[in-house]
Amino acid sequence: MNLSPSLLSADFGNLRAEAREVEPLAEYFHIDVMDGHFVPNLMIGPPVVNSLRRGLKKPFDIHLMIDYPIQYAPRFEVNSSDMITFHIEAKDEPFRAIDEIRELGCKVGISLRPITPVTAVFPYLDLVDLVLVMSVEPGFGGQAFMSATVERIGKLKNEIGDRKVIISVDGGINDKNILSVVDAGAELIVAGSAIFGQPDRIAAMTKLIAATRQAQ
Ligand code: DX5
Ligand code: ZN
Repeated sequence: MNLSPSLLSADFGNLRAEAREVEPLAEYFHIDVMDGHFVPNLMIGPPVVNSLRRGLKKPFDIHLMIDYPIQYAPRFEVNSSDMITFHIEAKDEPFRAIDEIRELGCKVGISLRPITPVTAVFPYLDLVDLVLVMSVEPGFGGQAFMSATVERIGKLKNEIGDRKVIISVDGGINDKNILSVVDAGAELIVAGSAIFGQPDRIAAMTKLIAATRQAQ
């Protein structure tokens, strides 16, 4: 189990320092990009993401909640350790979006909203590195975890079988529910308010990690 702290809940006026604070216990930095169309919110464009890179070592886990990932993904400066995740419900054709993102030299993730049947991503499992299962309706941090996610992760895990595809989960994760998603098969856990909403971020991350110990 690894953590990908979502910077959405960080202090945007102090973004790099906030990221540095969580870096020791982070596998990735989860960065939410929103276009005001795919989701009713606007958030963090390529210039912010690209300049944030300086002074940080951990890779970026860029979550595109946008209608046109093919058009905008190339504007992010990425390398082979970074990941760009797009939504299956976006307007671009998923096979094409996977190809175009792969061309950038980074890892590729596909995400799905809570209302999208998990079977919708099955045709892409041989082509992606990660599936990001949304456990809230995308668009805002601090929402309540949808418990139906646990069963969805189990079903996805079963279909993934021997493939090297990582399951990630995003939305409403806290120390009370993290064990249930890890037990079901999630390996990369995104958490925003459970980390940045706390005064001591490292203590909050340590608490999340400790809450999963029974599962490992
Ligand atoms: C929501 C974003 C999440 C969000 C999670 O649309 O994709 O990454 O930051 O925040 P919490 O953990 O507070 O639900
Ligand atoms: Zn996200």
